[in-house]
Amino acid sequence: MKKRKNIITVAIDSPAAAGAGTQAKYIAKYYNLLYLDTGKIYRLIGKLKINYQNNFNINVIKKYVDKVNLDILNDKTLLSDEVAKSASLIAKNSRIRKLVKNFQLQCAYNPPKKFSGSVLDGRDITSVIMKDAMFKFYITANLKIRARRRYLEFKKLKKRILYKDVLKSLRNRDNLDRNRVLSPLKKTKDSILINTSKLSKKACFKKIKSIMDKKLKN
Ligand code: C5P
Repeated sequence: MKKRKNIITVAIDSPAAAGAGTQAKYIAKYYNLLYLDTGKIYRLIGKLKINYQNNFNINVIKKYVDKVNLDILNDKTLLSDEVAKSASLIAKNSRIRKLVKNFQLQCAYNPPKKFSGSVLDGRDITSVIMKDAMFKFYITANLKIRARRRYLEFKKLKKRILYKDVLKSLRNRDNLDRNRVLSPLKKTKDSILINTSKLSKKACFKKIKSIMDKKLKN
């Protein structure tokens, strides 16, 4: 694959609800980068599994993946906990992971010319998709804090869900994502650890920005 030269590439991995999406959006806006939330692709397929039930197969998935774009991934129905759980289950499948890889690589290395580069977040971005990214971050936070944040997000979206169920669901997804054989979530040695448990969104971005600015100046 041809790669655009001299672009800024940022790879972020994190467990669910650690604040990676928020930081990726700040980074994208500040440095004029294309942002891809790769979890949304798995959520889209997770939703297909729910909708298609017995007819869910690789051909159906391929049809949808072939026409995937950033607008489709903005669909609000992808935000539900039911879809997230389904996403985590289908994400273990090697054929599915292979199918979605190319779209991620195109976004990462060939973002439209109007962007100065790309920022992707997910579970295997630093370890598989963008191994050679200019910046690699592992963003994390304590499980209970993440559950509290996700619970408040659901409440804002007027979704009926209990805190204890959000906590259980995140714990379950953490286990699935960290312990699967293929592309498990892990901090690579060359990723910078950012723990957002005790940091505000702005304080967290300040930290990331100072790391990035230092390297970009050289
Ligand atoms: O990031 P988000 O919580 O939306 O991701 C939903 C699920 O998609 C994750 O729990 C994970 O199983 C899967 N995923 C993945 N690889 C990625 C991004 C997400 O396996 N790069």
